[in-house]
Amino acid sequence: MSGVVVVGPPGRGLGGTTTVPGDKSIAHRALLLGALAGGVTRVENFPGGADTLSTLGAVRSLGARADQAGDTVLVEGAGPALGEGARGTIDCGNSGTTMRLGAGVAAAARGAVVLDGDASLRRRPMERIAEPLRRMGAEVVTTDGHAPVTVRGGVLTGIEWALAVPSAQVKSAVLLAGLRARGTTRVREPLPSRDHTERLLPAFGGEVTRGRDGAAVAGGQRLRAAEVRLPGDASSAAFLVVAALLVPGSELRLAEVGVNPTRTGYLDILRRMGATIDVVDVHEQAGEPRATLVVRAAPLHATAIEARAVPAAIDELPVLAVAAALAEGETRVEGAGELRVKESDRLAALEQLVPLGVGLRTTADGLVVRGSGGRRLRGGRIASGGDHRIAMAFAVAGLVADGGVEITDPGCVAVSFPGFFERLAAFGATVERR
Ligand code: S3P
Repeated sequence: MSGVVVVGPPGRGLGGTTTVPGDKSIAHRALLLGALAGGVTRVENFPGGADTLSTLGAVRSLGARADQAGDTVLVEGAGPALGEGARGTIDCGNSGTTMRLGAGVAAAARGAVVLDGDASLRRRPMERIAEPLRRMGAEVVTTDGHAPVTVRGGVLTGIEWALAVPSAQVKSAVLLAGLRARGTTRVREPLPSRDHTERLLPAFGGEVTRGRDGAAVAGGQRLRAAEVRLPGDASSAAFLVVAALLVPGSELRLAEVGVNPTRTGYLDILRRMGATIDVVDVHEQAGEPRATLVVRAAPLHATAIEARAVPAAIDELPVLAVAAALAEGETRVEGAGELRVKESDRLAALEQLVPLGVGLRTTADGLVVRGSGGRRLRGGRIASGGDHRIAMAFAVAGLVADGGVEITDPGCVAVSFPGFFERLAAFGATVERR
């Protein structure tokens, strides 16, 4: 979808029961662990967004077989031989997770692959994975710290690695390499980041030791195929949760959404802002809890989002900024400098709330947002910069903006949430493509 889309307020509240596409983070890991395992892994509720398709391509390039039929993917793993003799360039598209976790897998096999991506991915920092993988014994060459990244893998030795920033991608890259290294690999993190790799490994017969500040794996592990049904993506759900809170008269049920505590920081923050969100019917599969979220429109008030709350809400901060824009009072976000190196500089992108009538200022690592106290925003035009979460956050702003919000390059939502605009239209929002 090129061009622009204009999203405007619906004539009614958001209602009914719905689901969101399967979790992107867990999907990447299920494909990679399936590729490393022996046997045929079945991944259900596969989201099919562009990022996860990049990982599907990556596991094929590394020597596994992967077939997609609808929202089911079957991966025939290559076992410990994954990546042996692999050559050529793996196109990771827009997906940082594909590149970073893919490098971790490639590092432990005698192959020589180049991991490359689109213009956005080529701007993102890659030394953070190159350094530990080199320390383990792989040859990793970045392009001035960025992609393209060349990985010549081989026999690795386990390391202890302390992350400079809490990053599940770096943690997972090192742990995935550690599974095929000699000895134990231990990763320490300054704050807990999402723990999907640690939770999924036991479903594949893997062993992981978890401590207060990190995780460790023994090398030489043999994984076996698993059945993984992905929960709905918590990050995708967050856009609909905030939409339902902001559009008067809404009462929305979101079924089968992931409620892993390392991902539900957005629910805690919204509750602190005055939202009542019920979490019912909690159950677990492949180590991942899921539940139905029941959300009703509510007036919100400001809160403080401190550095320690950031990792569990990192991808939701753009839409939380939109919630703060409609709340009463001044919301502060601190310790979120990582937002500057996501698919775009998300702090800079959020400055586009200003022309919509929001009092907002950015700091080096955060935001100060003066909310409207429930008053609708002004309509306007924003540039998504090709960043899916920026496009969707501003679409939610459009639901409460007079005249709507016009968003450039809206097709980028397909990175994580194919059908997002159609979903808003089905809720009664005005969605006009130009
Ligand atoms: C992800 C981890 C986070 C997150 C990204 C997905 C993952 O990135 O922002 O969207 O799947 O591990 P960092 O690990 O760089 O913080």
